[in-house]
Amino acid sequence: MRLAGKVAIVTGGAMGIGRGIALCMAKEGADVAIADLQVEAAAKVADEVKALGRKALAVKADVTKPADFEALFETVKKELGKIDILVNNAGVACKPGLPFTNNTEEDWDRVHAVNVKSIFFACKAIAPYFIERKAGRIINIASIAGPMNSPSMPPYSVSKMGVITFTKIVAKELAAHDVTVNAICPGILWTAFWQELADTMARTNPQFAGMTPRQVFESRVQAVIPMKREQTPEDIAWAAVFLASDQARNITGQALHVDGGVVM
Ligand SMILES: NC(=O)c1ccc[n+]([C@@H]2O[C@H](COP(=O)([O-])OP(=O)(O)OC[C@H]3O[C@@H](n4cnc5c(N)ncnc54)[C@H](O)[C@@H]3O)[C@@H](O)[C@H]2O)c1
Repeated sequence: MRLAGKVAIVTGGAMGIGRGIALCMAKEGADVAIADLQVEAAAKVADEVKALGRKALAVKADVTKPADFEALFETVKKELGKIDILVNNAGVACKPGLPFTNNTEEDWDRVHAVNVKSIFFACKAIAPYFIERKAGRIINIASIAGPMNSPSMPPYSVSKMGVITFTKIVAKELAAHDVTVNAICPGILWTAFWQELADTMARTNPQFAGMTPRQVFESRVQAVIPMKREQTPEDIAWAAVFLASDQARNITGQALHVDGGVVM
């Protein structure tokens, strides 16, 4: 029960990695608010959190809108009493397999808005509260695509390196207030994110012709991951639980790769 008595918010918590983080934090004793565009799916995760004996809340929020963060934080303070942990997990991929000359301005703008600018909005809205309390944990979900400089998804790769850089900037600024800010870089996970990506790769990239999306995914796991094993939402979630716990009180400004050795 490393998070007993804590209140966590997980953006993009309706499925995939965010759902995994919400459930593992609840298993460790936290009450959890799930903020997502998909509020019905978020409500189902809230029910799963409640089944673990914790309080839970599903809130409709679009992380590209600063006003949604203000409303989210007020709702959570009112309904769950306080905020101790903010996990900025919501994120989107861009179209795969494009040389950068084929990227459009829309590709760049959308990915930047959802993956990076959203974390600026979130941190800006929560910082005064965490500073006043002289406590708080911010965990930003980046990706191996940042440090790996992925040519197949330039806007995504740049956005995730942006998440890591911004994590370190905010960590420096909030360190004196006993607020830690860290990033986690997941490797390759079979969530909706990769299922859609693999489907597009199977249909559009001759290298993967005739393969099912799952076969495309498995071939990437074998080609890229030294430990030859995909990651799971729980792998990422236990790292998030650790960073949110008192055990990690002296860890800030880090990007923790949970990737079976890819970035190594
Ligand atoms: N799956 C992977 O292999 C992988 C690898 C590295 C990093 N990541 C990162 O992990 C995070 C979660 O990925 P996932 O695999 O669980 O993805 P997913 O697509 O399965 O889930 C993403 C969730 O975010 C929500 N979301 C999207 N845009 C939103 C918005 N504007 N406002 C609020 N919610 C929004 C979606 O509704 C969904 O519930 C993302 O930041 C992603 O970039 C994933």
